[in-house]
Amino acid sequence: MLPLGLGGPGHFAAVRDFFRSVGYTEPAVCKQLSVDGLHQLLSGSQKSEPSAPKEAPNALAALMRLFLVGNSASREWLDGFIPATVQDSMEALGILCADNAQPGRCYSPVAIYPVRGLFIASDRWKNPDGSPVAAIDDYVFPAIHLLTHQFLELLPTSSCETLLDLGSGTGIAALLASQEYARQSWAVDITARATQFGEFNRRLNALSNARVLQGNLYEPVEGLRFERIVAHPPFVPSMERGAIYADGGGDGEQITRAIVQGLPRFLERRGCLYCSTMGVEREGEPYEQRVRQWLDPDESAFDVLFVAERTQGPTQFAYRATRHAKGSWDQMDEWCAHLEKLKVKNFVYGLLLIQEKDSTRSAFTVRRQKAEYTGAAQVQWLRDWESTWAGAPSGEFLLASRPLVSPHLELQIVQTNRHGELLPSKYTLRTAYPFEVEGECTKWMATLVARCDGKVTALELFAAGKREKWIPPDMPDEEFASILGALVSKGILQIAGFFPPCEADRKPQP
Ligand SMILES: C[S@@+](CC[C@H](N)C(=O)[O-])C[C@H]1O[C@@H](n2cnc3c(N)ncnc32)[C@H](O)[C@@H]1O
Repeated sequence: MLPLGLGGPGHFAAVRDFFRSVGYTEPAVCKQLSVDGLHQLLSGSQKSEPSAPKEAPNALAALMRLFLVGNSASREWLDGFIPATVQDSMEALGILCADNAQPGRCYSPVAIYPVRGLFIASDRWKNPDGSPVAAIDDYVFPAIHLLTHQFLELLPTSSCETLLDLGSGTGIAALLASQEYARQSWAVDITARATQFGEFNRRLNALSNARVLQGNLYEPVEGLRFERIVAHPPFVPSMERGAIYADGGGDGEQITRAIVQGLPRFLERRGCLYCSTMGVEREGEPYEQRVRQWLDPDESAFDVLFVAERTQGPTQFAYRATRHAKGSWDQMDEWCAHLEKLKVKNFVYGLLLIQEKDSTRSAFTVRRQKAEYTGAAQVQWLRDWESTWAGAPSGEFLLASRPLVSPHLELQIVQTNRHGELLPSKYTLRTAYPFEVEGECTKWMATLVARCDGKVTALELFAAGKREKWIPPDMPDEEFASILGALVSKGILQIAGFFPPCEADRKPQP
């Protein structure tokens, strides 16, 4: 049953104006609950379970009690904080109902909370008595879930003409885009319930430049093309049908694969997909390479960039899936056999970025590991750098640059005892900004990095290295430039025009 009403614009305006007038904002609510972000309410990382204030001192606390904590309240109590006309509008919109089990009390059948300046309704995660809600197939995923929060944090907010949000749930990504940076957005979800919540949220926030449509992925937008496509699709592998918000088919990749395969038809020239998802690595087949194959026969027209966040092995996944389903050892064995058949070496979760490339250059495929401070700006930096570098394969601009060693770099030198003498035997470069990078390098690379002071050109360093014999004598300058490019790409060296986002933009990510 669909819980919401989409009644007249007057009701939406009355509720919206009231929410605004009492300061129902994310910072105000977080302060009341002593959390850094509302995603902490659902991630279990908050210090203690938030509860409704015993005596609500004001209207803000009353809204939190009804719509976020989700308790019921007596009519008399509510009358002290919410004007009767606003309560009437809430009832007309289906967000305030009489509690049949407790005469004289009322509750909200949905959750509504502020997210970055919007008011967003989703399904609740608890019943008014505090018990967990019963599972339903078309559950509307809360926009304050940690995974949605992480997805939103990695989306660019630069202006764009058209944006499509696939598997939109509450519509949060499309609605934020419409409010902040997109001329027009489209939100598509397969369930009637999510579509109703999305449309409700669009009206509640009075966003006339967003459209909310129901259908299977691209089906409702056939014939259109988009500058930006964003998605946080279901990605959980399943052996039998699960909730629609989570179930990604046998390998978890079914929906993500269909999204990627639709790009040649639905992405505009130079357009880009940002997709928070999980996928499979097989022996000798990293995830990003497998994704590239999904684009066949158009794969050479696209760049693929994957920012990995978490990795888990098949046994770990099988154990968690079994525990989540309160299953037996036999079920765990079934899971292991299922994943073995799929040749799963690892599951990787992260941000998949695919862009239609400039036709004059070759395509790139890049993978990085997300670091504590990696956000949308750092991902955009990598995308810009790789696009430029792929367009200038001779590396002349690199040879003319004055590389500077990253302030975040650590060079570790291991010395081992050889015939009574301690000699350097291993060089390791490590940085945690803008991405997590760690790898062994040769002695000459360690020397090069140490000499990159931002004053000397790379060509001068190359000549000095040859003269002083710390660079291999037979190394051509193109190979040297290519190694420099890789060091810039990994955030080990920096060059003018491509400094990673400045320190002030560093923001720890959850
Ligand atoms: C994990 S939820 C994410 C919701 C929202 N984007 C967010 O980040 O909060 C995935 C959503 O994809 C929708 N979905 C699943 N299969 C779909 C399909 N084939 N086409 C469109 N939407 C789909 C589900 O109904 C659900 O709302």
